[in-house]
Amino acid sequence: MKPYFSDQDVTLYLGDAAEILPMLGTFDAVVTDPPYGETALNWDVYPIGWPELVTGHTSSMWCFGSMRMFLDHFDDFAGWRMSQDVVWNKGLGTSPATDRFRRVHEHVLHFYRGHWRDIHHDTPRIQLMGRARGGRTSSRPGPSTHSVYGPSTWQDTGRRLVESVLYAPKDRTGTSSNPTQKPVGVLELLIAYSVPPGGIVLDPFAGSGSTAVAARNSGRRAVLIEKREQQCDAIVQRLAQGILHLDGQR
Ligand SMILES: C[S@@+](CC[C@H](N)C(=O)[O-])C[C@H]1O[C@@H](n2cnc3c(N)ncnc32)[C@H](O)[C@@H]1O
Repeated sequence: MKPYFSDQDVTLYLGDAAEILPMLGTFDAVVTDPPYGETALNWDVYPIGWPELVTGHTSSMWCFGSMRMFLDHFDDFAGWRMSQDVVWNKGLGTSPATDRFRRVHEHVLHFYRGHWRDIHHDTPRIQLMGRARGGRTSSRPGPSTHSVYGPSTWQDTGRRLVESVLYAPKDRTGTSSNPTQKPVGVLELLIAYSVPPGGIVLDPFAGSGSTAVAARNSGRRAVLIEKREQQCDAIVQRLAQGILHLDGQR
């Protein structure tokens, strides 16, 4: 099967995920953003059964969606276990509805199959502002080690686990090729968590190719599928634009 585009970091296939997926191998994780089926956009049709299609290609999956999408298609995720939910606060309402709260967020759920101990998960940490880099030490028992190993010392390096609500303004530059483009910074965190350095992430609903940009920025590789040719062209152009803008978007 000939890719639409390929370089050392990214392979892109043009076509329907249901037809391309059976021809692909295995991946460290899927990070994807399927059509939710909630707008009038002609490509926005939820692809029923897709979570089952990626089974066999990976045991770890991050999936963007609205709560409505997940509940409407709850049965589709049978066989997957949910480890956690992350919220992306996009700062900008995207629904014209005035009869409910202004919706400024999307969900990202992490699913896995098999044993949790076999799933790569490396939670990103951030450096707290104002903390001395050397940190401080304490003889307080470590929260998770106390009962097994007794009191221990730990060093506060000022680094903390990334929180489950991520704020990243939606791209308002008007340069996105896809109205539902996701922020590269958020995708970098999801990839860092689930794909080891040098590993491969699969995105079967690529859109503007944000997953590939984030993978490349993070020293990972990406395989993408996208069924609209104009989007494939946009992805190729985006990837050709260089490495990283200061705002983290491209
Ligand atoms: C929500 S968008 C993805 C947006 C992407 N995360 C980004 O940052 O730009 C979903 C994409 O899936 C594509 N798509 C829809 N159904 C598909 C299918 N059956 N196979 C492959 N791609 C599909 C659509 O054309 C659309 O570009």
